[in-house]
Amino acid sequence: MSLYITTPIYYVNAQPHLGHAYTTIVADTYCRFRRLCKEDVRFQTGTDEHGDKIAEAAHAAGLQPKEYADSISKLFKEAWPVLHIQPDTFIRTTDENHILTVRQILTKVHEQGDIYLGSYSGLYCRGCERFLTEKELLEGNCPDHQTAPQPISESNYFFRMSKYQDWLIDHIKSNPDFITPERYKNEVLSFLSEPLEDLCISRPKSRLDWGISLPFDDDFVTYVWFDALINYLTGIGYPDGKEFEHYWNVAEHIIAKDILKPHAIYWPTMLKALGLPPYKRLHVHGYWNINEAKMSKSIGNVVRPETLRQDFGVDTVRYFLMREMSFGLDASFSDESIISRQNSDLANDLGNLFSRSLTMVTRFAKGLAPEPSEPAPEDSQLAEAAVAMISRYRDHMQSFAFNRALQEVWSVISLANRYIVASEPWELAKDPANTSRLNTVLYHLIETLRLIGLVLMPIMPGTSRKMALGLGLTEEECANQNLVDHGRWGLTRSGVTIQLGDSLFPRLDKKTRQPQAAKQPKKKKELSAAGKSGKKAAGLVSFDDFKKLDLRVAEITAAEKINKSDRLLKLTVMAPEERTVVAGIAEYYQPEELVGCQVIMVANLKPAKLMGVTSHGMILAARDEEGKLTLTALTAGVPPGSKVS
Ligand code: MSP
Repeated sequence: MSLYITTPIYYVNAQPHLGHAYTTIVADTYCRFRRLCKEDVRFQTGTDEHGDKIAEAAHAAGLQPKEYADSISKLFKEAWPVLHIQPDTFIRTTDENHILTVRQILTKVHEQGDIYLGSYSGLYCRGCERFLTEKELLEGNCPDHQTAPQPISESNYFFRMSKYQDWLIDHIKSNPDFITPERYKNEVLSFLSEPLEDLCISRPKSRLDWGISLPFDDDFVTYVWFDALINYLTGIGYPDGKEFEHYWNVAEHIIAKDILKPHAIYWPTMLKALGLPPYKRLHVHGYWNINEAKMSKSIGNVVRPETLRQDFGVDTVRYFLMREMSFGLDASFSDESIISRQNSDLANDLGNLFSRSLTMVTRFAKGLAPEPSEPAPEDSQLAEAAVAMISRYRDHMQSFAFNRALQEVWSVISLANRYIVASEPWELAKDPANTSRLNTVLYHLIETLRLIGLVLMPIMPGTSRKMALGLGLTEEECANQNLVDHGRWGLTRSGVTIQLGDSLFPRLDKKTRQPQAAKQPKKKKELSAAGKSGKKAAGLVSFDDFKKLDLRVAEITAAEKINKSDRLLKLTVMAPEERTVVAGIAEYYQPEELVGCQVIMVANLKPAKLMGVTSHGMILAARDEEGKLTLTALTAGVPPGSKVS
C-alpha cells in the first residue's frame, strides 16, 4: 500500500505556531507510522502565499509581497526539520510550476463550461478570504474572526459547484471514511442539505493583484482557495508526472476544523469537474487553545514551537501533542500540563522502566542480554500484553486515535514496572540458584522495552533510537526496524551488549522548568540527610569524627507514602541486610520511581520514630537554596551494603 499525506499549506502572514506544528507533527507521525508498516509514503507541506491577507501583511512590513512571502515561507520550511518533521516536498503557491498548473486547470474547467462570468453581491470576510452566508454569521460577525464582513458587489467568475452537489452527497454517504471523525462528516452533510451556491473564483485586479491571473481574463486574479487547493496536485506533478499517477489515488489530507468547507466541498467538486477521483480521506482535527483561551496575537498568548523545543525538547513536545489531544476535539495547552506529562509519563513511567531494567542487566547479567528459560505465568502475561499492544496500537494509529495508541503503550509500561516490583530481580540476584529465573525476568524486560521503543518511533523518533541503541541494536538495525518483521516477541539476541546511557528524560521542576537533577547547580547545594533542614555545618570536622559515620550504599527495594504525611516516604532498603528508613522526599519523588535505585545512607544513626514509623538510618540528598531535595543516587551498580568512604 502507498500513501500520499498532506498538511494545509500555511498562510505566510504569520509565523509558525503551535497549531501549525501540531498538524505537521500529526502528518509526520502518521507518515512514519505507515513507513514503519513498510509502506511507500510521500509527505507534502508548504506555504500559501497569494491573496489579500498576504498583500496587507507585506505592505505593513514595508516589503513587496514576494519578498515578504520568501522570508516567512523560509521560517516555515526551517521550522519543520527542527521538530524532526521530514516532508518530502515543500510547495509554495508562488512556485513557477504551481502557477502554470493552476492556469492550465482554469483553462480546462473554463473551456468545458464550468466557469462563467457573473455578478456578485455578498458579505466578504477578509480573514476567511471568502464570502459568508447570512446563516454563518454570529450577531452580524464572522464567527472565526469576530469582525463584520464587508458588503461587496462586483463582476466575477464563478465555478459551477452546484452542479456537483448531488454527486458529492452521494460520495460522502457511500464512503463512510471520506471525512473523519464522524462529527465533521455530519457537519458537511448538514451544510449540503441546503442548495449549494456556485463558487466565486476570481477577484478583480482593481481590488487585489497579488495572485495568479486568470488565463482567460487578465483583469482578474484567481481566488486564493482555487489557487491553494490545487497545490495537492501540483506537488506530485499533475497532470502527467509519474508520481501523480502513483500517489493521487492514495491522497489523504489533514486539516483543522477551520478549513473544513473548502476541503470537504470546494475541493472534491473541483476535482470532479477536472475528471479526477476525489482524495481518499480527509482527517479533521480540533483546535489548540492556550490555558483554555483562543490562541491569538492580540491576546499575546501565541505559543511558538521553537520555544517549546528549547524548553522541553523535541520528543516531549511531539509526545505531549499526540497524547493530549483527542483527534477531532479541541485541547488546551499549558506549561503545567506539558511538564506534568514529562515528569509522570516520560521520566517516571518510561524513563524509569528503561533505566531500571538496563541497570539491572548491567549489574546482574554483566551487561549482556541474557538467555531466557521456560517462562512463568507472569512472564507470559507480560509478553502477551506487549504483543497484543502492537496490534491495538496499529488499529488506533491507522484511525488517527493517537492518544489511544499511546494509552495502549503506557499500559504495557505500567505492567512492566509492576512486573519488576513483583519479580524482585534484586532478590533473585542474591542466590546463584535463581540465575535462570533472574535471566528470564531480565530478558522479558528487555524484549518488552524493544517493542515499546519500536512503536514509539513515529511519535518520538529520537527516544526510540536511543532505546534501540541501548538495547544493543546497531545504527543500521535501528534505521531498518519495522512492525512487519520486528513487531513480534523474541527477537532480542541473547549475549548482545546492553548500553546503559543517560536517562531518557529529566524530571522538570514545575517552577523553573529546569531539569531537577541539573548537572551543575547554579544555586549552591549541600548534602544533608533527607528531611532535615539543610543548615550549614559550623566549623571543621576532624577525620576521626568523620570516620564515626557509617555511610553505606543502600538499594531501595520498596517505597510507600506514609499515611497523613505529605513529606515522608517509608523506604525498605538493602544495605546489605533489609531495614526501614524514613525519608522526607515525598514532595520530590514518587514511590514507584525509587524502587531499584541505589542511594547513600547513614547506617549508624540512632533509630528515630517519625509519624509512627521507626527509621533505621538516613538517606543523603542534596538540598538547593529553595529547599528542593535531589537524592545522591548511584548510576553504576554497586553491591548493596558497600561502605562509602
Ligand atoms: N492557507 C490556508 C490553507 C490552504 S490548504 C489548501 C490556511 N492557512 S493557515 O495558515 O491559516 O493554516 C490553517 C491550519 O493551521 C489549520 O487548518 C490547522 O491545520 C493549523 N492551525 C492553525 N491554528 C490552529 C490551532 N489553534 N489549533 C490547531 N491547529 C491550528 O488556512
